[in-house]
Amino acid sequence: MEHLNHLLEENPDLHKKMDAHEHRIQNILDAQKKGQLANGLSAATTVTIPVVVHVVYNNSTENISTAQINSQINVLNADFSASNGDISSVPSLFTSRIGDANIQFALATTDPSGNPTSGITRTPTTRTSFSTSGNPVKFNSTGGKDAWPTDQYLNIWVCDISGGILGYAQFPNSGSAATDGVVTDFAYFGTTGTATAPFNLGRTTTHEVGHWLNLRHIWGDTGCGGDDFVSDTPLAGSPNFGCPSFGANSCSGGDPDMWMNYMDYVDDRCMYMFSQGQVNRMRATFETGGGRESFNPTTVTPPPPPTGTPTYCASRGNSTADEWIQRFRYAGIDNNSGNNGGYADFTSISTNVSAGTGYTLTVNPGWSGRVFPEGYAIWIDRNQDGDFSDSGERIGATGSAITASSVSGTLTVPANSNNGTTRLRVSMKYNGVPTECEVFSFGEVEDYTLNISNGIRQARDISLGGDLGLEVYPNPTSSNATVRFEVAGEPADVVLSVTDVRGVQVASRTWSNVNGTIEYKLNSESLGQGVYLVAIESNGAKQVKRLMVTEVL
Ligand code: ARG
Ligand code: ZN
Ligand code: CA
Repeated sequence: MEHLNHLLEENPDLHKKMDAHEHRIQNILDAQKKGQLANGLSAATTVTIPVVVHVVYNNSTENISTAQINSQINVLNADFSASNGDISSVPSLFTSRIGDANIQFALATTDPSGNPTSGITRTPTTRTSFSTSGNPVKFNSTGGKDAWPTDQYLNIWVCDISGGILGYAQFPNSGSAATDGVVTDFAYFGTTGTATAPFNLGRTTTHEVGHWLNLRHIWGDTGCGGDDFVSDTPLAGSPNFGCPSFGANSCSGGDPDMWMNYMDYVDDRCMYMFSQGQVNRMRATFETGGGRESFNPTTVTPPPPPTGTPTYCASRGNSTADEWIQRFRYAGIDNNSGNNGGYADFTSISTNVSAGTGYTLTVNPGWSGRVFPEGYAIWIDRNQDGDFSDSGERIGATGSAITASSVSGTLTVPANSNNGTTRLRVSMKYNGVPTECEVFSFGEVEDYTLNISNGIRQARDISLGGDLGLEVYPNPTSSNATVRFEVAGEPADVVLSVTDVRGVQVASRTWSNVNGTIEYKLNSESLGQGVYLVAIESNGAKQVKRLMVTEVL
């Protein structure tokens, strides 16, 4: 709270921002309750958080051992999966309220530059202790250690904190990204080495990580009138200390205090549970807008085309009693699809193609008995605008209906195709050559997906001396955006830089020796509303895209 008060003093708008965040979290929780949270994270999905522990030491005692660090990680993993041994001490009144957060913590194995790491940094300092004010432990320039990107790692600094404070943390969506994380005093970290009773069971860090995941103190930091925004933790008037006996109630009426909760102030051996309500609140931070969504393990959805998600016109044959598309082959696709009743959506089948390159097409008709004349046509939505009517999108067709049992040729992916994912349509119509949106009496239509490379870059993309296939999506965005690019050929260094319209850099990142497709989640919320330029530079090639952030907390 001391740390939060510093932040509130430094930044008068923070109150509004935190209120807005609370509002958002409550909306997420409401939607979750009603089963209306689109693509919500399932409770069964374990969230694993990469951790970096920054040991900042003034003497060899403070330079705690790796074993002590591991003991702390083990405590976090037990406490955040309700598998701590002492959970059996929860009084029966509260056992039904025990929550399993299903969150795990793992020392990072890759550092911000992409190199292998132990997940531990060790920094000697001349400072004998660190106050919460100004966060000196979080900056090289003040005798501490700079954070690793706080949207990719939980940063835990271990140092000597002044003022009798065991630990402190920053709530999600409050304060700056550079100070985000947890600080724990070396004397209260882990369960061995320098860990000191009665705070030697690693619960200080459990408590602080609870804050980092948006939990408030169980007494709401006010009297009985204040709340922790969680309904299954009883109201409490003030913190509990030491190791109370069960039954005392610091507020009149209701249940007795849940002092055995990690978010109270009791001794380590007397705190052993999160409630289900707290778990819901913590996991809500992994949803869009929750502030910790960059740790959500659910894979990013593929980019929508620049103009939004297209819906293609329907096209089909009304009957396949006599004929259908039996087999379709093009580039890497070979689908012996048989009779699909007139239309089949095979867009889950895809192949990689290169713009301007010809590939062999073979279509085999299927006939139930007699052979009939059939007309064929094939389209690629080269500009990803949701139709097949732009110039060059019909890449091939027969001149008229023919009775051949196999139709083939070499058809070229339009050289002026956009890079990315788009639709291919193949149509076979009885007694005539079909058009792209036609519904006809006899025959069949099938849709497939192509992933096009070596095409033209997207609109409003500034490219200098090379194409890194840069894509930024969704765009505009109100929460995170994914920056995707490709380093073709040999591994190379890449620099990402995000600048605001005045040219001031607001975020950056580097990768060394990478190739292939890289996807990076940009925390747009920390940027705030506005227009930004996202630049990727590698081997003299540079690409820039505009990113619009539409909403600020
Ligand atoms: N921020 C709290 C403090 O410094 C942490 C309390 C942790 N409690 C515990 N039993 N480990 O006082
Ligand atoms: Zn606290
Ligand atoms: Ca088109």
